[in-house]
Amino acid sequence: MKHTVTLIPGDGIGPEVAHAVQRILDASGAGINWEEVSARPEADRRGSAYLNLDVVDSVKRNRVALKGPIATPVAEGPPSLNVGLRKALELYANLRPVKNLAGVKSVAQNVDLIIVRENTEDLYAGLEHTIVPGVVESLKIITEKASTRIAVYAFEYARKHGRKKIAAVHKANIMKQSDGLFLASCRKVAANFPEIEYREVIVDNACMQLVMNPHQFDVLLLTNLYGDIISDLAAGLVGGLGVVPSGNIGAEVAIFEAVHGTAPDIAGKGIANPTALLMSGIMMLDYMGELDAARRVEQALHAVYREGKHLTRDVGGTVSTDEFSNAVIAELSKS
Ligand code: NAI
Repeated sequence: MKHTVTLIPGDGIGPEVAHAVQRILDASGAGINWEEVSARPEADRRGSAYLNLDVVDSVKRNRVALKGPIATPVAEGPPSLNVGLRKALELYANLRPVKNLAGVKSVAQNVDLIIVRENTEDLYAGLEHTIVPGVVESLKIITEKASTRIAVYAFEYARKHGRKKIAAVHKANIMKQSDGLFLASCRKVAANFPEIEYREVIVDNACMQLVMNPHQFDVLLLTNLYGDIISDLAAGLVGGLGVVPSGNIGAEVAIFEAVHGTAPDIAGKGIANPTALLMSGIMMLDYMGELDAARRVEQALHAVYREGKHLTRDVGGTVSTDEFSNAVIAELSKS
């Protein structure tokens, strides 16, 4: 075994898709020793102590994790464990490549976008309070440090991967100070990357432009909330959340996870589609330098989709999670 990777199965369909991906990656010969940990909250409910610290320690030790979705109650209960993990591990960049997968119906073709979302601040700082009954204040935190850090990540990513254009997405016409600071930080960084075309787009217009003509964009650089919303919009262009991966990347460690949630409506039925988590697993193999295994898994996945006989229901097929995984493993054994 060459690598130890933390496996966080998560809730709902999380364990079903996580174990399916684990089986496929094992068949790829990447040599992974899995350290499975639960992300269930700790008993002492204080701030980041909501997080099971074993998870944080395991990811810090292994530097790489594959994670299933974790449920977050709406409008009540403790803060999101997902957000807590990103903060505790300083996973400041959320990277979401959005591409068509041949064999999956989609509203747009030949989409090839890289979404880089700031992952640690903005309205996700979770700073909310009631001023008087009926009036709540929610604080949007934007710092020069985090804005510069995410801009540097996006430009360096673009340079390394031969991407030509970056569009920073904002609402600085209204939030002149916060989004203004984000833009000022992006502009300073852009000046150091003259070979990459830089432009700025207001977020509402960006949504419309993405639907009308996604091909005009290459890399999108966004603050946390706009990034969250726009990455789901972009996923919708290529067939939905079931076929889009993501990586939460920090200076030292990274967690790879699907963009979708726990799908409580289908949990336990054995019909969840592991594709998004498998694609995140491919990103993880690339991150670990297992480029050969990454390409083999990618080709096997594409072959199963091209053939179209072993697809799960959400993408128009009829097979179970296991049958889909077996088909990918059978393809892998051919390479
Ligand atoms: P969801 O993504 O879980 O489900 C939306 C729809 O997509 C459902 O109909 C579901 O059956 C379907 N779906 C999602 N993933 C699928 C898959 N792999 N295969 C087949 N169908 C799939 O979104 P929802 O219902 O808004 O969220 C449920 C829970 O997940 C919430 O508690 C939310 O907080 C959590 N969540 C966690 C995330 C994470 O851990 N990163 C991300 C998004 C949501």
